[in-house]
Amino acid sequence: MKLTPLKISEYKREGRKIAMLTVYDYAGARILDEAGIDVLLVGDSLGNVVQGKTTTLPVTLDEIIYHAEIVSRAVRRALVVVDLPFPYCQLGAAEAIRAAARIFKETEADAVKVEGGSNRAPTIAALVEAGIPVMGHCGLLPQSVHQSGGFFIQRRREQLLKDVKAIEEAGAFAILLECVTTEITKEATEILRTPTIGIGAGGDCDGQVLVFHDIFGYTPPEKTRPPKHVRQYADLKSIISEAAKNYINDIQNSTYINNN
Ligand code: KIV
Repeated sequence: MKLTPLKISEYKREGRKIAMLTVYDYAGARILDEAGIDVLLVGDSLGNVVQGKTTTLPVTLDEIIYHAEIVSRAVRRALVVVDLPFPYCQLGAAEAIRAAARIFKETEADAVKVEGGSNRAPTIAALVEAGIPVMGHCGLLPQSVHQSGGFFIQRRREQLLKDVKAIEEAGAFAILLECVTTEITKEATEILRTPTIGIGAGGDCDGQVLVFHDIFGYTPPEKTRPPKHVRQYADLKSIISEAAKNYINDIQNSTYINNN
């Protein structure tokens, strides 16, 4: 049965952990859905891992909709969440609703994700009021990389706790915590009714999320290793490289057998 934002929220009360991954294509989404993943995120990390760019900022609404349509069509059970790309939330509630409405009209996605702290609470409240389920995203905010000056572990306890409380009150059904210290994450998870989903935030969240290319060892070649917090479960880069070399050898040595 298809998971809903409400069901994901209830996982916390039921003491069930939430498994979430990013994905960008039909085959990947189908495999992960059939494996039993709870939440699939069409993240704006597609700028980094699919398009090979250095930040998520260039990702457009049209591009995220293109991937969200493909992914959401592949999925039977998982909740499909789509990032609102820069700068739709930064422009305020009306622009955020306009962008989210396009995502809902042109894809079969279930929810959007909004980056930002208490400053985004009014926009999140307006989205929820418009009938659009929202996952919050606090801690390290890749869409604000030029403001923060880089990708750092977040250690500002009071600010973070204020942010997650404001986002919970605005009506988010879950909150992603990126690169927040284990201690602050633990405290946030304890004080919130809303589930927390961590990435580089320790093991005390209500769920975990990783980027598809990082967990499966498929990161772009110039990225020699994935971020420190990543636990890699496969080495697709080596498998594909080895298979490609075997294929090339077979062609060059005339040992390739075509069954037709
Ligand atoms: O876009 C993305 O991949 C994200 C990660 C933090 C999961 O938001």
